[in-house]
Amino acid sequence: MADDFPKTYLNHPDQWLFKDLLDRIFAEPDPDRITESVVSFLRARPLPMDDFPVLDNTYSRTMLGRHENGYEAMAARWQAGAVSSIHGHPCYALMVTVHGRLHVENYEKSRGRLQMTSSRILAPGEFISAKSPNTGFDNHIHGVKAIEETLSIHISSQDATKGEIFSRQAVLR
Ligand SMILES: [Fe+2]
Repeated sequence: MADDFPKTYLNHPDQWLFKDLLDRIFAEPDPDRITESVVSFLRARPLPMDDFPVLDNTYSRTMLGRHENGYEAMAARWQAGAVSSIHGHPCYALMVTVHGRLHVENYEKSRGRLQMTSSRILAPGEFISAKSPNTGFDNHIHGVKAIEETLSIHISSQDATKGEIFSRQAVLR
């Protein structure tokens, strides 16, 4: 991993423990083990929200670790009411809420249109993890809205910013 991770404001000691964990689990990545390890860590040591920057009316992204095999970890600090795009992910993706609450809407794609299939609220310590055999960036499509100020941790098997972005016009009503 590059030496300049993590980049945080307050440099809380748990950030360095978390970085050590990421170094270990990304070196021999096994999605089920990553989910178990990351969720257990964050439930025991919830990284402090104030270690991450605030962006008004939206969310900030802070990279916490990235392995040359593509696995990466990112922290998102959401202002209340902030909304993500509707987006896809690489084959493995994990999202854990550390503080606050997120509302997540899940979609399925068929013939270029999106159908909402389910929604749920993620409270602190709750997570969504997904694996797919599809190596593209249109897996596990969802849109996220922060119900309140929230910190969430996101792990992906490839660069998450390559996730396919969908227009809200593509959603079937
Ligand atoms: Fe996502």
